[in-house]
Amino acid sequence: MVVIVGGPSSEKLGSDIAKRLDLPYINLESKVFPDDESYMKFPEEISEDDLIVIQSCFPKQDKRLMELLFILDTAKEFGVKNLNVVIPYLPYARQDKRFRAGEVVSNRSIGNLLYTIGTDLLLTVDAHQEESLKEFKMRSLSISAMPLLAEHLKSMTLSDPCIIAPDKGAANHAETISSILKTNCTFFEKQRDRITGKVETAKKDLDFRGKDIVIIDDMISTGGTIANVSKIAKNCGAEKIVAACTHALLVGNAEEKMRDSGITDIITTDTVPNQFCKISVAPIIADTLRKFIEL
Ligand code: R5P
Repeated sequence: MVVIVGGPSSEKLGSDIAKRLDLPYINLESKVFPDDESYMKFPEEISEDDLIVIQSCFPKQDKRLMELLFILDTAKEFGVKNLNVVIPYLPYARQDKRFRAGEVVSNRSIGNLLYTIGTDLLLTVDAHQEESLKEFKMRSLSISAMPLLAEHLKSMTLSDPCIIAPDKGAANHAETISSILKTNCTFFEKQRDRITGKVETAKKDLDFRGKDIVIIDDMISTGGTIANVSKIAKNCGAEKIVAACTHALLVGNAEEKMRDSGITDIITTDTVPNQFCKISVAPIIADTLRKFIEL
């Protein structure tokens, strides 16, 4: 028998996936102590062979990760044989190599932790670099939410839209969206100062008069990357400018920064729950689980 557990960050997503798969859903009792330590409790000791744990690790990432490790470790202790872990927003994925000598490669360390604790299968959504999952020792897969974003964009009234990737890393996402919408796409060049974190985007001489623009990225953190591109697009005559991404972390004044730069709409998924979630990733996660686990 397979059962699904939603961690404290993904109770709704977890139960939606369980409904789609027609599987029993376990609700954990959880609370946070005054000193910020997490407490969790399974309703009873589970004895199933297969467990699917859903826990998105958006900020506070470390807390979400610790909660996930507690759940996995406890499930192993109860005797669960196969641990299938779904982390819709996989944290620390951007530090996937040693950019400067001596740096920690956080992405690899997260993979090692999950493997060591007993993870058999890891699913995530739009991992920052899909390639980096190959370093993980357990079977790992990134599911693309781009077709879902494209379907939502189709339902919006957009005039002769052009899809823009803010950097080369997001070019594949822009291509996926533009091939579904049958529109043009282009990508910008971005430089990030590895010490200050400041982002610079090279200007492009484009004519966007009479066009709406969709800027697509895997994630929006401080909104700086999107704001840079939006300002350039505005100067090139763009009308409506939509920011679309899979994971909208929206740190600090990200929304204000993007609005000030000319962004009219923000479209995102529920890998990070917030007011801009227009799309649920439950269907694509459920479909992928169906392919990998004998249900
Ligand atoms: C990095 O390459 C990512 O794909 C995003 O472009 C980046 O993380 C966005 O960060 P921010 O919103 O802080 O500019």
